Amino acid sequence: MSLKKGTGSMELGECTRNPGYQDVEGGGSAAETINADPGEKHDSTYTQIKPYAGMPKEVLLQYSSQARYRVPREILFWLTVACTLVLVALTITVIALSPRCLQWWQSSPVYQVYPRSFKDTNGDGVGDLKGIQEQLDHFLYLNIKSVWISPFYRSPMKDFGYDVEDFRAIDPLFGTMQDFEELLAEMHNKGLKLIMDFIPNHTSDRHRWFNLSRTRDPHYKDYYVWTDCNATAPRPNNWVSVFGNSSWTYDDVRGQCYLHQFLKEQPDLNFRNPNVYKEMTDIIHFWLEKGVDGFRMDAVKHMLEATHLRDEPQVDPNKPESVKTEFDLHHDYTYTQLGLHDLLRSWRAVLDVYSREPGKYRFMVMESYDYQEVEKTMMYYGTPLVRESDFPFNFYLLYLPQNTSGLWVKDLVHLWMANMPKGKWPNWVVGNHDKPRIASSAGQTYIRVINMLLLTLPGTPTTYYGEEIGMENINVTDRQIQDPAGKYNASASRDPERSPMQWSGDMNAGFNIKTNITWLPVHPDYRSVNVEVQKKDEGSVLAQYRFLNTLRQSELPLHRGWFCYVHADASVFSYLRELDGLDRAFLIVLNFGKESATTDLSSVRELPDQLKVLMSTNQINNGKVLQKSRILTEAGEGLVIRYSTHTWFNPNHPEQCYVSEKACYLSAMDILYKC
Ligand code: GLC
Repeated sequence: MSLKKGTGSMELGECTRNPGYQDVEGGGSAAETINADPGEKHDSTYTQIKPYAGMPKEVLLQYSSQARYRVPREILFWLTVACTLVLVALTITVIALSPRCLQWWQSSPVYQVYPRSFKDTNGDGVGDLKGIQEQLDHFLYLNIKSVWISPFYRSPMKDFGYDVEDFRAIDPLFGTMQDFEELLAEMHNKGLKLIMDFIPNHTSDRHRWFNLSRTRDPHYKDYYVWTDCNATAPRPNNWVSVFGNSSWTYDDVRGQCYLHQFLKEQPDLNFRNPNVYKEMTDIIHFWLEKGVDGFRMDAVKHMLEATHLRDEPQVDPNKPESVKTEFDLHHDYTYTQLGLHDLLRSWRAVLDVYSREPGKYRFMVMESYDYQEVEKTMMYYGTPLVRESDFPFNFYLLYLPQNTSGLWVKDLVHLWMANMPKGKWPNWVVGNHDKPRIASSAGQTYIRVINMLLLTLPGTPTTYYGEEIGMENINVTDRQIQDPAGKYNASASRDPERSPMQWSGDMNAGFNIKTNITWLPVHPDYRSVNVEVQKKDEGSVLAQYRFLNTLRQSELPLHRGWFCYVHADASVFSYLRELDGLDRAFLIVLNFGKESATTDLSSVRELPDQLKVLMSTNQINNGKVLQKSRILTEAGEGLVIRYSTHTWFNPNHPEQCYVSEKACYLSAMDILYKC
C-alpha cells in the first residue's frame, strides 16, 4: 500500500502498520484516512488511529496538532516554564537571603607555631619543619584548621628569623624548600591552612640588597633609609629602636647612618622607593604561587617614616636624656605614616586575585601594637569601600593580667567591640612569642577561665603553642639569655615564653628525643603539663580546650550569634550568646576575681529560672543545676550554661549586644537566613 502526501509519497509496509488500527466503514486504509481532511473526519477516523514509533514525521506532526495531544502538551510546557521560573526565583531568593558562610579563618582558631620550639626531629635542639609535619594530628585533635608559623626564611637568626637574609629560601636549621612543600601539601591534605609570617619593614643586614646598598650600587642605593651623620656620635635625630637606644647605626662601608627600628642587624627598608615595594610584592606572589593560605604581616606600622627626619616629640620634654625606649617618644614621624594603608591595601588586592578559586581564600592579619590608640589599629580593617586585612591582631587581652576582675576584662573586650567598624570580625590574642605567657602573668588559677573566655567570645581566637595545655614561662638566667631584646635589657627578654613545647613526660618533654639539647630549657613542670598526660585526663586544660573549641564550632550561637553583656563586677564577667530564631542559647559566667562570687541574674528576664551547667572549668560542677539568682563561681572558675529560650535578649537590649553579620534561624527548615 502507498501513502501519498503533497508531492511526496512513501511506502508503509505491513511491518509498520499500527496494531491499534481498525478499518472503518468497509476497510478504508490508514493512508486514505490520513490523506483526508482532518477537520472533516476528526471524530470518525483520527480517533481510531494511534501514533506509533516509526511513523514518518509528517504523519506524527498531524497527530500532534490534535487538541487531545496539543493541549496536554501545552499544559506540560507551560507548567515546566512556570516551575523553572519558580525554581530560579526560589534559588535567587535563597541566595539573597542566605547569610555568608564563615570562612576558614573565622571558623577555627589561629594556632601560632614558633618553629624553633615546636618539635625537633634532627636532634640539633631547634625545632624544624619536619617536626611540625610530624605533629599535624595535634591540630586535628584540637579541631584547629588555621596554623600560623613564625618565620622560617633563611636568616642569621639575630632576631630568630625576623631578620631575613633571603625571603625565597628556607633556613637550613628548619629544613629545605622540599620540606616546606611537603609540609604544605600534607597540611592541605589534612584540611589545614598555613599562614606565613611576612616581614616587610626590614631585612637582615646580611641580605644581598643591604650589601649592594651600602656599596651604593645604583639600583640598590636607596633600598634602605640612609642619612648623613657624625661617625663618632651617630644620632641624626632622637628616634629610638623598639629594642632600645638610637635607631641609627653608622656604616663605615657607605660612610652614612642607616635606620633600624629594631636591631642594628635589621635595617629598615625604604618603601618610598617603588623598587622596594615591587620586590616585596614579588615575594608575596612567590609564596602565594606555592600555595600558602595567608600572611601575618609583621610590624607594619613601622614601614614608612617621615622623610624630613625631624626629632619626635618627647613624652617628657623636660628630660632630653631620658629618651631611650620607644615609650619616651610620641612617634609622629616613624609609626603609621600617611601612605601606609595604601601599601597594605594594594597587597590585599594581590591576595584577592589569588582568592578567586573556590575554597582558596587568602587571609591577611596585621601585627600592630597601638596601645591607647585603638582607632589606629582599627584602620587595618580597611573601609567599607577598600578592603585591607581580615583583621588586625587584637592584643588588648594581653593586658588582662594587670587587674584580674570581671569589670577589667569587660573593659578590654569592650574596647575592641565598641571600636571595631560595623560588620567586621573580631579576634582575640592572649599570648604570642613576644609577650609573657598568660598562664604565668595572670597565674595558674586563671588558665582555664582565660581559655574559656577566648573560645566563647565572638570572632577568631588565637592560641599560642602550649596555651592549650597551660604552659608557663620558664626562668632564664642571664647566662642562658638568647633573645637579643633580653641581651639589651634582661627584663625584656622573650625567651621565657619560647621554651620547647611539652609533648610528653619523655626526655626533653618529647620535643627532642634524639639528643639531650634544647635551644632553651624545658619547663620543669613538663612531667605533669604535657599533651600526652592531658589527653588521658578528662578534666585537663587540654580536654577543656578541645571541648570548648568543638562546641564553638558546632553551635551556631557561639560562632555566629549575638554577643550580649549581662553582668560585670569585681569578680565576674558574664555574657550571652544567642541567635534569633534558635531556641538554644548560652550563658557564660567567668570569675576573674580573687574570691568566689554569687551572681544574681534574676533581672535578666530572658533567662530561665533554672540553669544547667554544660561545662565548668571545675569539672565537678558539670551538670549542676543553678538558680539564676544564685550563680556560684570560685575564683578562676568559668561556666558555660546552655539553655532553651523563645525570648531573645538582644531585641530588648540592643545597646548591650553585638553581631558581625546578623543571621536568623528558621527552625521549620533548619536553615539560616539574613534578617
Ligand atoms: C615583630 C615580631 C617580633 C620581632 C619584631 C621585629 O614584632 O613579633 O618577634 O622581634 O617584629 O621583626
